[in-house]
Amino acid sequence: MRFVDIIEKKRDGLELTTEEIRYFIKEYTEDRIPDYQVSALLMAIYFQGLNEREIADLTKAMVESGDQIDLSAIHGIKVDKHSTGGVGDTTTLVLGPLVAALDVPIAKMSGRGLGHTGGTIDKLESIAGFHVELTNEEFIRLVNDNKLAVVGQSGNLTPADKKLYALRDVTATVNSIPLIASSIMSKKIAAGADCIVLDVKTGAGAFMKSIEDARKLAEAMVTIGKNVGRNTIAVISDMSQPLGFAIGNALEVQEAIDTLNGDGPEDLTELCLTLGSQMVFLANKADSIEEARELLKDAIQSGKALEKLKAFIASQGGDPSVVDQPEKLPKAKYQIELLAKEAGWIESMVADEIGTAAMHLGAGRETKESIIDLSVGIVLIKKIGDQVKQGEPILVIHANSEDVEDVKELLYHTIKISPQPVAAPKLIHEIIN
Ligand code: URA
Ligand code: CA
Repeated sequence: MRFVDIIEKKRDGLELTTEEIRYFIKEYTEDRIPDYQVSALLMAIYFQGLNEREIADLTKAMVESGDQIDLSAIHGIKVDKHSTGGVGDTTTLVLGPLVAALDVPIAKMSGRGLGHTGGTIDKLESIAGFHVELTNEEFIRLVNDNKLAVVGQSGNLTPADKKLYALRDVTATVNSIPLIASSIMSKKIAAGADCIVLDVKTGAGAFMKSIEDARKLAEAMVTIGKNVGRNTIAVISDMSQPLGFAIGNALEVQEAIDTLNGDGPEDLTELCLTLGSQMVFLANKADSIEEARELLKDAIQSGKALEKLKAFIASQGGDPSVVDQPEKLPKAKYQIELLAKEAGWIESMVADEIGTAAMHLGAGRETKESIIDLSVGIVLIKKIGDQVKQGEPILVIHANSEDVEDVKELLYHTIKISPQPVAAPKLIHEIIN
């Protein structure tokens, strides 16, 4: 097989065979095809697309390019959740304990990664003593005993995706629905879950700016799931502004505790109930989505979800007393309000721009080597649609330096105030299954 022929076929809009796709992924993973040829193929895919069969073959080939996690020793149906690019998205911290409280096993493998705030692991590490260095045996035992464990990414999962994603990043080919769908699904499938619930974000600041694109991506991923035998459901949710109020590591842990206590932000609570009820239903712990939702609400009201969080923290070496005494979490030295320069209604606060401001405070990593400050971040007071008076605080900056002028400038730039009333954005757009 000659790789140039594969490029030519896709350039001309023809369908690639299973063998050609497998050859591409295997040879590229093993460094036998140069980046310049793969760049050309990626650009051809960007313009010509891939059909359903090609996408499934590409996903399977990427899954098979590295290790696959075997979760078969865990009892019950394993459900995983994935969100595509949220900002201040505290859902994982809430959903783990909430869904596990209904005996759905959650075996979460998580990375640190780059971004506006740390990953789930960084956030959890703001709890004193909490660690994610578990052997495979410990991880499986904790999930069987407690229904919930989080482990740091180990092994060599989907190396093909790592190489391709890096190349896409520098060849302007990230934004292709077949490539995004196969990239995300390959990682979820290699991580071993039986069922997958996807939270596809849409709106200014999300990957998929329009609902139409978000729907296409969601449909592509749900179809991959069907084609590889992993039941998959996608929820399309709003990310035109950050979810909840908190953006930052310890701040989001605090927000997750509040939410599991029944005192969380309305949007975060609603999205967690929506995603959680899909997870509980897929795991066969309820006969309908409505029943699943009621069970989740009961778990919050009865305190079962909060108890699960405490047990989870303790089982991984953390101090569970933070749940009742969140003042034990790392706290930034300065709390600085951002005041409205004019009166009106909040019209926009673009999620990823608010996230960038949080990153400037030190909440996220700009490079792999950056050290993150778990205490800093932003807590919103107002959200889109809320009325503000001139001089009223819109949000609070949590910083370890008094000089936050550059951060304020970023925030004033993205927060627009309208003289006319503005409607709050719709949170849940669609559910695709
Ligand atoms: N996230 C991924 O993991 N892959 C993509 O291609 C895009 C977003
Ligand atoms: Ca949040």
